[in-house]
Amino acid sequence: MHSSEQELFNHKIDQEVRIEPKDWMPEDYRRMLIRQMSQHAHSEIVGMLPEGNWITRAPSLRRKATLIAKVQDEAGHGLYLYSATETLGITRDETIEQLHAGKAKYSSIFNYPTLSWADIGAIGWLVDGAAIMNQVPLCRASYGPYARAMIRICKEESFHQRQGFEILLTLSRGSQAQKEMCQDAINRWWWPSLMMFGPNDDASPNSQRSMQWKIKRFTNDELRQKFVDVCVDQVKILGMGLPDKDLKWNAETGHYDFGEINWEEFYEVLKGNGPCNHERLEARKKAHAEGRWVREAAAAHSMKKNNLNTREIYGTQSAK
Ligand SMILES: [Fe+2]
Ligand SMILES: [Fe+2]
Repeated sequence: MHSSEQELFNHKIDQEVRIEPKDWMPEDYRRMLIRQMSQHAHSEIVGMLPEGNWITRAPSLRRKATLIAKVQDEAGHGLYLYSATETLGITRDETIEQLHAGKAKYSSIFNYPTLSWADIGAIGWLVDGAAIMNQVPLCRASYGPYARAMIRICKEESFHQRQGFEILLTLSRGSQAQKEMCQDAINRWWWPSLMMFGPNDDASPNSQRSMQWKIKRFTNDELRQKFVDVCVDQVKILGMGLPDKDLKWNAETGHYDFGEINWEEFYEVLKGNGPCNHERLEARKKAHAEGRWVREAAAAHSMKKNNLNTREIYGTQSAK
């Protein structure tokens, strides 16, 4: 049975008309968005941790200021996305509770450790680079609040990608030890970055649905291939290599072929068995608990301000 609401929804999707919070939408569409957007928000916030680890050890004041700005941007991305998720009828407390209970995921890439300063460069170049590849098409996602949040986020992500690349470029022109540090970071971050695009298309059952609803515009494998093609060119500028002996140009497809991803590692990290899963979740829970008084103070302040405004509007005397 097709309701007229369902038909109207289908028509909007078909005509590229955005779905807005108060519009009718199928329950599965709402659920898919809550899952994707809240996990995206969690990724932004958890993603601050590996890089925050290097703020006090950044090699110069300029690097420190840039890294602080970058990590702060990620907090902002998390906030836009939590707010956008709330428009779907779930509270921020609920989404954060799901993260802390281990029910909601965040990007597995943040379960890898940052061992050297070069990792900060590799994260900017590869991790933010992969995020951009994923997120630029989301600026056209069918759900309005998500698409609009992504436009602003993508502008900042492009700054993140450049600052990372510039860190690696500087190292690649430095001493022998710096060059080796640069290559080592690329070697460790390359494969986990490719995993950021998710399972292969034939192992990704939700993808099809998401494409039909125009949340996703490209499949995991399409985005991963685009990313590989871009990185092969960029790594040449660094004078570095990518750790894949099967990487080679394929004139027939017009793309670079690349080696098999270690899916066993992918699923292990996803299950919670990566090098830093436990540490990341504990850090988030601790920060949430320690920030409780700030949230309470902010809530009390805004309540007080609202009361004052009400008195002004209605001209009632406030008690002295
Ligand atoms: Fe971000
Ligand atoms: Fe970023």
